[in-house]
Amino acid sequence: MPKGVNVISYTTLSLDGRIGNLGKRTTLSKDCDLRRLHALRASVDAIIVGANTVLSDNPLLTARLPNYSGKQPIRVVVDSRLRTSPLYRVYDTSIAPSMLITSINSDRFMKDEFVKRGVEVVEIMGEEFSAEEIVNAVKERHPEVKKILIEGGGVLLSTFINDGFIDELIVALAPIMLGESCVSIFPKNITEPLKLRLVNVNICICGQEVVLKYRVPPSVMGS
Ligand SMILES: NC(=O)c1ccc[n+]([C@@H]2O[C@H](COP(=O)([O-])OP(=O)(O)OC[C@H]3O[C@@H](n4cnc5c(N)ncnc54)[C@H](OP(=O)(O)O)[C@@H]3O)[C@@H](O)[C@H]2O)c1
Repeated sequence: MPKGVNVISYTTLSLDGRIGNLGKRTTLSKDCDLRRLHALRASVDAIIVGANTVLSDNPLLTARLPNYSGKQPIRVVVDSRLRTSPLYRVYDTSIAPSMLITSINSDRFMKDEFVKRGVEVVEIMGEEFSAEEIVNAVKERHPEVKKILIEGGGVLLSTFINDGFIDELIVALAPIMLGESCVSIFPKNITEPLKLRLVNVNICICGQEVVLKYRVPPSVMGS
């Protein structure tokens, strides 16, 4: 983990361990959960999501709270093969800054289209990036970034868990079942589950959700 970066993940989870429906926006969050998420967005410097999240949800990824006029986080999309297009809402740089992290091998013409929209395009070698490469890509261009929110989906979160790049894991358990056709919170195998000893620091019942906040002891993860 690079010094001076705090990485937090936030996931709204169904009771059967699912987070959404691939290709279709699924509403798991009620008002209280959304307020909590937007407050968290307002407190971070950057938010990172995977390509499937953009393709499924078309999120804005801005902090939207009543009377909030503070800074907006840099919205970062990890899309190695460039399956998203600059027309998705997250790439509207008139609202907040946007960064695209993609493979050096992905379509050059498409990359130029993102640049024309004001999106910062960062290329990484290969097709599967480590959490360290992703965080470094953000930090190198924006050294002021101290707090990063991993907002999903499951593939991106699995990378950060497996690589020991999460300091705090927040899960809001929603009273809903999504069924096995939906995406799991950890679709990639957790390679070393025994390393993943979480310290439960907080449980609260808020609105309809049970919110679980875990800290990852630094001696356990990334060691
Ligand atoms: N409930 C919640 O809190 C929540 C939050 C966010 C999203 N979601 C849901 O989650 C679902 C999407 O999750 P998902 O697990 O399918 O996908 P995802 O993590 O959103 O995106 C996966 C894709 O992003 C790119 N990617 C992610 N990590 C990468 C890495 N380390 N290196 C290179 N590329 C990487 C890859 O694109 P390429 O395949 O093109 O290489 C990969 O296929 C949607 O249904 C969405 O609604 C739920």
